[in-house]
Amino acid sequence: MGTDPKSGPALSVHELSKRFGDRVAFHDVSFEIGHGEIFGFLGSNDAGKTTTVRTLGTLIAPTSGSATVAGIPLTLDNGIEIRRRIAIMPESPGLYLHLTVLENLECFADLYEAPDPKERIGRALQAVKLSDRAHDACATLSKGLRQRVALARALLSDPQVLFLDEPTSGLDPGATRDVHELGDGGLGTGDRALDEEALRDCDGEFQGPA
Ligand SMILES: Nc1ncnc2c1ncn2[C@@H]1O[C@H](COP(=O)(O)OP(=O)(O)O)[C@@H](O)[C@H]1O
Ligand SMILES: [Mg+2]
Repeated sequence: MGTDPKSGPALSVHELSKRFGDRVAFHDVSFEIGHGEIFGFLGSNDAGKTTTVRTLGTLIAPTSGSATVAGIPLTLDNGIEIRRRIAIMPESPGLYLHLTVLENLECFADLYEAPDPKERIGRALQAVKLSDRAHDACATLSKGLRQRVALARALLSDPQVLFLDEPTSGLDPGATRDVHELGDGGLGTGDRALDEEALRDCDGEFQGPA
């Protein structure tokens, strides 16, 4: 019997910092998030929110400090293992615009080696209320709908920790409400770290420097 991956915190961050040369992106960040919690990063432009997400998502290495992500210590060697357990929805959706919604999701499900991709894709489409647009080219979708496709893509791997970077930025109030409602259990997934405006639903937050 293996160790329960959910026995510890979903995210544990201790005095984490990231510098780019002389520029400090974020400094001395510490917090802990339990499984099932929604946690938001608050901060003005340039406060280091995206860089924090990119660091915890193993896309860039921290300058100092330590963290465990989905129970795994954040080290260079553990990058692949961590990425198997998390998903990041970036600020810009980054979809193949000439492919349909379904084709995009099939493509990424294949890349993530998702088991039972058909079922996963169906569930993800349902979670973001896009089942009826599955055969539309992404180029023909509104900004908010593309955002939802990106969210569906992030759900494909059934992540233990889901990072959302400004998921509602630029969306109208109705689309923003839809994203917030996803946080009320609509996702059927584990833990989420939200950025900025999705804070309405947060259980906790980290307030960065102004
Ligand atoms: N790859 C990079 N090289 C140099 N500076 C960077 C890089 N990525 C981010 N930064 C800097 O780090 C700071 C924080 O950026 P960011 O994390 O994007 O802030 P936020 O998401 O809170 O608006 C900014 O000053 C930004 O220019
Ligand atoms: Mg940002």
